[in-house]
Amino acid sequence: TLLGIDLGTTGVKAALFAVDDGRVIADAFFDYPLFHPHPGWAEQNPADWWDATVSAIRLCLQQGARQGASAEDVRGLGISGQMHGVVLLDANQQVLRPCIIWADQRSDEQCRWITEKVGASKLIEYVSNPALTGFSAPKLLWVRDHEPDVFARAHTMLLPKDYIRYRLTGVLAMEISDAAGTCLLDVQHGAWSQEVLAALELDPGLLPPVVPADAASGMITKEVAELTGLHAGMPVAGGGADNACGAVGNGVVEPGLALVSVGTSGIVLAHANSPQVDTSGPVPRVHTFNHAVPHAWYLMGVTQGAGLSLRWLRDNIGLPERALERWTGIDSYETLGKEAESVPAGSEGLIFLPYLQGERTPHLDAHARGGWIGLTASHDRRHLVRSVLEGVAFSLKDCYGIIREQGLQLNQVRATGGGAKSALWRQIIADVLEVELVVTNSSEGPAFGAALLAGVARGAYSSVQEACARTVRITKRTEPNAQVAPAYQQAYAVYQALYPALKPIIS
Ligand code: XUL
Repeated sequence: TLLGIDLGTTGVKAALFAVDDGRVIADAFFDYPLFHPHPGWAEQNPADWWDATVSAIRLCLQQGARQGASAEDVRGLGISGQMHGVVLLDANQQVLRPCIIWADQRSDEQCRWITEKVGASKLIEYVSNPALTGFSAPKLLWVRDHEPDVFARAHTMLLPKDYIRYRLTGVLAMEISDAAGTCLLDVQHGAWSQEVLAALELDPGLLPPVVPADAASGMITKEVAELTGLHAGMPVAGGGADNACGAVGNGVVEPGLALVSVGTSGIVLAHANSPQVDTSGPVPRVHTFNHAVPHAWYLMGVTQGAGLSLRWLRDNIGLPERALERWTGIDSYETLGKEAESVPAGSEGLIFLPYLQGERTPHLDAHARGGWIGLTASHDRRHLVRSVLEGVAFSLKDCYGIIREQGLQLNQVRATGGGAKSALWRQIIADVLEVELVVTNSSEGPAFGAALLAGVARGAYSSVQEACARTVRITKRTEPNAQVAPAYQQAYAVYQALYPALKPIIS
């Protein structure tokens, strides 16, 4: 068996898979808090991640044992996780402050400074991406500017899942697909950009070695073995960024394939065999990152608030679903989906902008703000729900449109993530994008991709492509419904016009 871990934004999943066909043997999920100390800020405690990870591994192994899969037979572990978060350790490897995670928007000023210091076009030449608040380098520089005492003690910077690697193995390393999102990696060559580090006056010693996704990076320590039930000495693979591992777990490991993922964030990515960059405008609107597949890259558009928008609605608009779930056990998202289903496509003129955490693609604007436009007295809460599902689909259409402009051939789009498990949301996305969405057996998302990478590291598969060929199967197809296309085209035109119209008033 192979074990995969995905350190997400809401919680961590551990899942155990069979090597031969990738079937799920056991899984466990533990959540942890997300803190918003100020509007636009987003932080988590690495200690919370670690506690939840230990609990998830233990429970998963216990469940596996009940299915006859013993912990002794786990051949390897792969880790996947939310990208871009900055974890700072001191010289004794103690965490110095809460992690500033991917969703945090505080570092606008640092982005401007980076762009000025390095030069806008030089930055693209060196790291293939512009400086964005989502990425790690601006967050790191925010700490230097605002918490100089903390920064002075910082010895090592890690990304979220690489911190978990450190706790599991004692090894300080950053895996390449995740390192790509720091804005400090030369994405073309897969090494730290000495030019950018020098221009930003950052000590290269802060950054650990870059390691590959599909090779062993360390081994489970004795203490962790005692804590979790894993066996000491078991190899831990490099693993990958959650989006890269989501792609691997869905077989998006060759040209022609794209992925739409609806997690807390939403993404559209396409596999690329070369590190091509969006050069159509002054700033690349989609990211170019190293894939977890060796010598491959992907282009990705990101919407900051996908599942986050629906969760926010559920938790804050006074709908009783959450409470009902507690009393009846009926899934609150399912209840919301049923409500949304009874409203026609286009939500009868109600449009939702999902910019609750600013927006990345296409606006690259940390100050973008969300909202509903077009409310009338005839709308009710069902419309609120449906318009959120549609607004997220519109923002994914923005990403998809730009990805399509990049000249990559796209033969198939695969859908994944918690949101894509909803048949209604999947249908809305297929209808809005006007493309067939294919679902695979990768029900465990990035944890599956991470486990496959561990399988490659152990020689159970000869390559990432072979791992996918052996284990990933198409299970469902969602065809777009041409009848609703005009309604969505009309609503999308309004949606697209709203951001530029509101921008001068809001920011
Ligand atoms: C990608 C990004 C998010 C996180 C979510 O650039 O910031 O998709 O990886 O976990």
